[in-house]
Amino acid sequence: MLADEAATAALGAALAPLLGPGLSIHLCGPLGAGKTTLVRALLRTLGERGRVRSPTFTLVEPYRAGGLELAHLDLYRFENAAEWGEAGFDEYLGGDTVSLIEWPDRAAPLLPLPDLRIDIAVEGDSRRATIAACSARGDALLAALQARGAGTESPS
Ligand SMILES: Nc1ncnc2c1ncn2[C@@H]1O[C@H](COP(=O)(O)OP(=O)(O)O)[C@@H](O)[C@H]1O
Ligand SMILES: [Mg+2]
Repeated sequence: MLADEAATAALGAALAPLLGPGLSIHLCGPLGAGKTTLVRALLRTLGERGRVRSPTFTLVEPYRAGGLELAHLDLYRFENAAEWGEAGFDEYLGGDTVSLIEWPDRAAPLLPLPDLRIDIAVEGDSRRATIAACSARGDALLAALQARGAGTESPS
């Protein structure tokens, strides 16, 4: 359970030091769930000092932080999956770039499985994050995250 915005940010911060080149993370959940909030905290923790804006309109915001190249994508405005190819976004996959993709379902049949999928559900004022690993790397990342006590259910 992510009780408030700070808890969502803490999950992003906990993820940051566990990232490595080429990792892909999908962020799912409705508008206002906190996907961008999580990515912003992640980038801040990696040392990004500039403005971290939502890529809602630009579709992609690139970063270089913490020794990594990252691409924060938001596919909300895609009307069909083919726009993924038209936008040339394959360049962010399969290389060293860490891809953080909001609304990946908008490009569903064209997107390979990520390493990690984070689903954020809105429950009143709080949020519930469900984190699933979809690769061996994702398994290791999720185990490390849980060892840090992040992304797991708190007992209270
Ligand atoms: N537990 C929470 N986690 C994240 N954001 C929250 C939470 N509770 C309230 N909020 C608010 O919800 C909004 C989330 O916005 P944003 O991160 O842009 O969502 P998304 O990218 O999923 O559309 C922010 O205005 C934030 O203040
Ligand atoms: Mg967003």
